Order: sequence, then structure tokens, then C-alpha cells
Amino acid sequence: MIIQDKVIVITGGASGLGLATARYMANEKGARVAIFDMNAEAGHAAAADIGERAMFVETDVSNDESVRAAVEAVVATFGTIHVCINAAGLAGPSKVLGKDGKATSLARFAQTIAVNLTGVFNVMSKCAEQMATNEPEAGEERGVVINISSGAAFEGSIGQCAYAASKAALLGLNMPAARELGAVGVRVNAIAPGLFMTPMVNELEEKVVASLLTVVEAPKRLGDMREFAHCCAFIIENAYLNAETIRLDAASRLRAR
Ligand SMILES: NC(=O)c1ccc[n+]([C@@H]2O[C@H](COP(=O)([O-])OP(=O)(O)OC[C@H]3O[C@@H](n4cnc5c(N)ncnc54)[C@H](O)[C@@H]3O)[C@@H](O)[C@H]2O)c1
Repeated sequence: MIIQDKVIVITGGASGLGLATARYMANEKGARVAIFDMNAEAGHAAAADIGERAMFVETDVSNDESVRAAVEAVVATFGTIHVCINAAGLAGPSKVLGKDGKATSLARFAQTIAVNLTGVFNVMSKCAEQMATNEPEAGEERGVVINISSGAAFEGSIGQCAYAASKAALLGLNMPAARELGAVGVRVNAIAPGLFMTPMVNELEEKVVASLLTVVEAPKRLGDMREFAHCCAFIIENAYLNAETIRLDAASRLRAR
């Protein structure tokens, strides 16, 4: 799919990888971007910074009505939706047992699943409903979905039970969704990033970053957020890529702790 002038929904677009992707798609690829995020202050600032090619809708991806209203707002402003990039996510640390040996709170586990897994399905399904109404590009493509997983989907560290399970579930979602939505010309892929230089990482002490870097093989550095955005562009532009998960991680593998 050609990105120029397409409408791209980016959840979690007020910060980190989502924000870098919103900037890249609007400023360098000529897309119109709709940022869905819970953080209204950062979301409005991001859209204002990008300019007329961007809009912000305060959205809770885990809420049915909130996402329905957000999708309606995008269609009212930009006419339709061609691409959906699901980058909203919670780290939500969770172990099986707490320090006291007691079972971890179910509510904490459920919250991470609600945002990282149910939230992705919520936004993907409502965007796909709209994508299915698009005129097909080159006779075959109406839309593209990109779900952001994590290296933790493969090698979760201790304390990442909910996070790793939610991110692994996105890999399972790829195939049935791609098979079903293929009928309406929508592709579904995932990216499993390694460690990226997001604002959160930027604030860490040098020695913490050095310790994170020990799991990165080559090149021996954190990922640049533009490299992530570029990977999203590749997925959108390559019409033959479907139901695939791209590990974008310089061959890094998380340790147990
Ligand atoms: N940063 C990394 O190195 C890295 C590595 C692997 C995977 N990931 C994944 O990439 C995605 C982006 O990560 P990031 O580091 O840019 O995160 P981030 O914390 O900078 O941004 C996440 C955004 O999601 C938003 N959000 C959280 N809950 C939401 C909800 N219910 N509804 C709407 N918005 C919500 C937050 O407000 C925030 O703006 C996440 O899914 C994360 O798990 C990141």
C-alpha cells in the first residue's frame, strides 16, 4: 500500500514508539495520522506539533464505546481509515507469587491483558470494519493492521507474566485475523521490538542502560525509534507480507532476570 495521503490510526501515539511513528508517517511519508491515547495532554501536544496532517482523540483502547467513538471521529475528519498500528501498551509487572509467597492479584494481571490484548482486538476490529468499506488499492488492498508485540513474547523475564502472555497472544492473533480479513483485502502483521531508545529508557542511569545492552548482540546499541517507524512503513508498503511477526531486536534475547 502506498502511504502518501493514507489515514493511519496509531494507538499509544502520544509517546515513545507510537509518537515516533506518527511523526515519521506524517512528516516523511505524507500520511494523515490519528493518535489514540489516554494521555490527553501529550496527545494534543503531539498532534499540534505534527500539524494539519494529525488529529488526536482521547481514547481508552480497552473500552468498547471509547474506541467506537474514536473511529467515528477519524472517519468524520479524514473520511476513512487505511492502516491501524496498535502501539498502546502497559508493562504491568507481574509474578505468579508475590514476595510474601501469596498468589499475585488477579486484577493486576487482568488490567495488562485488557490493554495489551483485548485493547488491540478492540481497535483492530473496529478499524477493520471501516477498512472493509475502502476502494481496494491495485485491485487487492483495503487496509493494513500492525500489532506491536515484544521480545518478551518469546523469552519473558521473571516478573513479566501478564506482559509476556499478552504480547505472545498477539502472535496467535496474526494468522486467524489475516486469514479472515484477507477476504476483504486487509493484512495483519506484528512487530516484536527489542530494546528501543524511548523516553523511558532515556531517563535511566548509564549503568542500567549498560546492563540492558549486554543482551543486545549486533549492532550493540539500543534501537533508534526511526528504525521502528521504518519497519512499520515496510510492512505497509510490502503487499505480500501477511500474518508475519518481525523481530526487530539486533538479535537480542532477554534474560530470566
Ligand atoms: N520501548 C521498547 O523498547 C519496547 C520494546 C518492546 C515492545 N514495546 C511495545 O511497544 C509499544 C510502545 O512502547 P513505548 O515504549 O513507546 O511505550 P510508552 O509508554 O512510551 O507509550 C505507550 C503509550 O500507550 C498509552 N496507553 C497506555 N494505556 C492505554 C490505553 N488503555 N488506551 C490508550 N492509550 C494507552 C500511554 O498513554 C502511552 O502514551 C508497547 O506496546 C510496548 O509494550 C516497547
